[in-house]
Amino acid sequence: MRRAKITVVGAGNVGATTAHWCAAAELGDIVLLDIPDLVGAAQGKSLDLFQASPIVGFDARITGTSDYKDTADSDVVVITAGIARKPGMSRDDLLSTNAKIVGSVAEQVKRTSPQAVVIVVSNPLDAMVQRAFEVTGFAPQRVVGQAGVLDTARYRAFLAMELNVSVEDVSAMLMGGHGDTMVPIPSCTSVGGIPVTQLIDPKRLEEIVTRTRNGGAEIVGLLKTGSAYYAPAAATTQMVEAIVRDKKRLIPCAAYCQKEYGVGGYYVGVPVVLGSGGVERIIELKLSAEEQANFKKSVDAVKELVAAMAKLTG
Ligand code: APR
Repeated sequence: MRRAKITVVGAGNVGATTAHWCAAAELGDIVLLDIPDLVGAAQGKSLDLFQASPIVGFDARITGTSDYKDTADSDVVVITAGIARKPGMSRDDLLSTNAKIVGSVAEQVKRTSPQAVVIVVSNPLDAMVQRAFEVTGFAPQRVVGQAGVLDTARYRAFLAMELNVSVEDVSAMLMGGHGDTMVPIPSCTSVGGIPVTQLIDPKRLEEIVTRTRNGGAEIVGLLKTGSAYYAPAAATTQMVEAIVRDKKRLIPCAAYCQKEYGVGGYYVGVPVVLGSGGVERIIELKLSAEEQANFKKSVDAVKELVAAMAKLTG
């Protein structure tokens, strides 16, 4: 059986860490691509990672390149290319630069890996995934954004810290855009099967949700020289695994919603079933009136972001 071919575009912090975890989990052979100026970094990191494989004990070829020919016929393409958020910069500040970068990457992916499932990680996520969808012209199921797995992981980590329990026992769901308007769904959040509302009072839960919403900015503030990458890369790896192993994971992802939730043709965070076909199903939850109102607010923010991007990109 042929190993899966996974291309990671952008050999920076998120890209290289994603390559690391995908290789260690033997998800497939990996091509790490960056711009010609940084091809040395892509090649150096790939060789270094490959040289770790005899010690750690994984079989995966990892190669660095700046030539899309080497990425041809990938099964999965992860797009992390772009500039990262600096302190004081909102995700939306990144809009103009990253829209151009993601657009140019998507053109190349369309040409060289026409059958791939594309996972977009670059921020601002909800706009970048829409851009990749529009430029590739791929079926919406085959273009998906990484946001919900990360946001939910942050939320789960904070809940585990609060209750001093294993992260393994915390299961949660967040919906909406990857930004300040993300919507927690308390009815789908539990710890060892116990609804979170029985364990944490509403005021404290709201504080934890607020910390989750600001989870990216908290890391940016601490790092000072860039943005988070371990958790974003772990989230991306989970999505790659779901696709190459056809695991049919039920996880929150930024998926193209047309009729679903009445969104009308935008990418927003919703629970999906992710497998070899990409987004194989979107799960429509019954939301409470408050959740519905918050979700609508979040979708409106995504629409504004996409409209701003459309103005910038023509
Ligand atoms: N093609 C390929 N790679 C590119 C391109 C391009 N057109 N433009 C930029 N890159 C590369 C950069 O050269 C750099 O190596 O993308 C990489 C980005 O890496 P970092 O600056 O380390 O950023 P990182 O922390 O990895 O974040 C990447 O993911 O989580 C998001 O907000 C984050 O949008 C950001 C992206």
